[in-house]
Amino acid sequence: MQKKLKDRIAIVTGAAAGIGFATAKLFLEEGAAAVAICDVSGERVETAVAALTPFGQVRGHVADVSKKEMCVQLAEKTLAEFHRVDILINNAGITSDAQFYKMTDEQFERVLDVNLKGTYYMSKAVIPAMMEQKYGKIVHASSVSAYNGNFGQTNYAASKAAIAGMTRVMGKELGKYGINVNAVAPGSIMTDMYSAVPEEAKQKKLASIPLRRYGVPEEAAQLIAFLASEEAAYITAQTITIDGGFN
Ligand SMILES: NC(=O)c1ccc[n+]([C@@H]2O[C@H](COP(=O)([O-])OP(=O)(O)OC[C@H]3O[C@@H](n4cnc5c(N)ncnc54)[C@H](O)[C@@H]3O)[C@@H](O)[C@H]2O)c1
Repeated sequence: MQKKLKDRIAIVTGAAAGIGFATAKLFLEEGAAAVAICDVSGERVETAVAALTPFGQVRGHVADVSKKEMCVQLAEKTLAEFHRVDILINNAGITSDAQFYKMTDEQFERVLDVNLKGTYYMSKAVIPAMMEQKYGKIVHASSVSAYNGNFGQTNYAASKAAIAGMTRVMGKELGKYGINVNAVAPGSIMTDMYSAVPEEAKQKKLASIPLRRYGVPEEAAQLIAFLASEEAAYITAQTITIDGGFN
């Protein structure tokens, strides 16, 4: 069977761990010619590159997606080496929870900077090349928190709802250039991010998930790979939920 992402050049942000790492690994397994990953710490990037190298060609970059110049550099380096970018996965994201009345400006701004501005900066950095090559697949990371309003997540929900809105508009504007723009909205996927949720809240959440279990990063990666592939050629401007039926 033909591999889903044969010969594709992809960038995956926040790929040292969790869903991003599982996505980079699956992309290589699905035949991607190269996957450029970024994350914030050099040590974590090195470890991820070592773990991914057996599966294919991977490039590791230390880049904070909330910094425009780092996003531009990541796109430029990838284009200089591989001459195209077929796929961008805007996966990097953070939480910094607090009830609204206790939330500091710094908490609010940092979450918006990484989740929303990071998605904006990285997309801007690759879109000229995608428009020129008349081909591109962009997948953003939204969240069921955008619709569900998880306690303590005003900042996070605002960033993820904004990403769902961006997805609608970007999909509509870029369709005529052969660029699909979609987002995934995961529910509770077992990663470092989710392990920060208090145990009591986790148990309560579990009871409200119809499939009665949390998701694993590999399941989110499968949805991302589908949206990045030709199998999803007629899907754009959508945010697709993967949450065991929770929402
Ligand atoms: N895990 C879940 O249940 C869940 C649910 C809904 C949405 N999401 C979203 O999916 C995405 C991945 O989540 P995850 O659970 O794998 O998270 P994670 O915390 O396990 O991994 C995220 C990775 O992004 C990196 N990162 C953080 N800030 C960055 C920055 N400024 N620049 C570059 N990299 C950065 C982290 O170092 C980490 O390696 C996030 O956008 C998250 O909001 C996750």
